[in-house]
Amino acid sequence: MVAQDQLFIPVILGSIREGRRSLHAASYLASRIGAAGHASEVVDLKELALPMYSEEDGEELHAGVRALRGVLGRSDASLWLSPEYNHSFTGVIKNAIDHVDTELRRKPVAACGLSGAAHGGVRASEGLKVVLIEMHAVPIRDSVHFSEARHLFDADGALLRPEFEQRVDLVVNELVWYARALKWGRDTVPVPVRR
Ligand SMILES: Cc1cc2nc3c(=O)[nH]c(=O)nc-3n(C[C@H](O)[C@H](O)[C@H](O)COP(=O)(O)O)c2cc1C
Repeated sequence: MVAQDQLFIPVILGSIREGRRSLHAASYLASRIGAAGHASEVVDLKELALPMYSEEDGEELHAGVRALRGVLGRSDASLWLSPEYNHSFTGVIKNAIDHVDTELRRKPVAACGLSGAAHGGVRASEGLKVVLIEMHAVPIRDSVHFSEARHLFDADGALLRPEFEQRVDLVVNELVWYARALKWGRDTVPVPVRR
């Protein structure tokens, strides 16, 4: 692959809980984006420590808010990973989205879930797609649902269930296709006037 074909696809990690199981899953997702020849990084909402969205003066100058908007602004696509909390995606993800302005517009997003149960956070990822649409982002159909999270990775973050690799790679490949198509579209197709 030639350098100009390389895309930047960050992984937004939506769990800040002590002992969070999503951390290894997010690193794994970023590693598979790398294996496909693209640049990635884990955007850890715990490290960004975003304030609760309040529109207070200077909020947009918060280092975490600037970092989040900067990384999404540079991205060609993004992959969002949320555990399921009370049948939804996490509050920190919603707060992060509330801080975003135009950085996701007309870019593809993959919403992925994780849970301790068998369904792997499908309610979190489906709900997240609906919210991301409001950002003018383009959620793709496919997701990874990391089920039975306790048994997915060892203490060093090695994947214990190799069957997930194929699913992750499918989602990465779909995201890359949409990223290329929408990048071409943003560069060449006039955006409709909104009255
Ligand atoms: C506040 C809270 C609410 C949860 N609600 C659900 C739920 O509705 N459905 C579910 O399958 N698992 C639920 N779980 C279990 C989590 O999905 C599981 O603990 C998962 O590991 C959380 O991801 P994390 O470790 O990255 O924070 C909940 C966990 C927490 C802490």
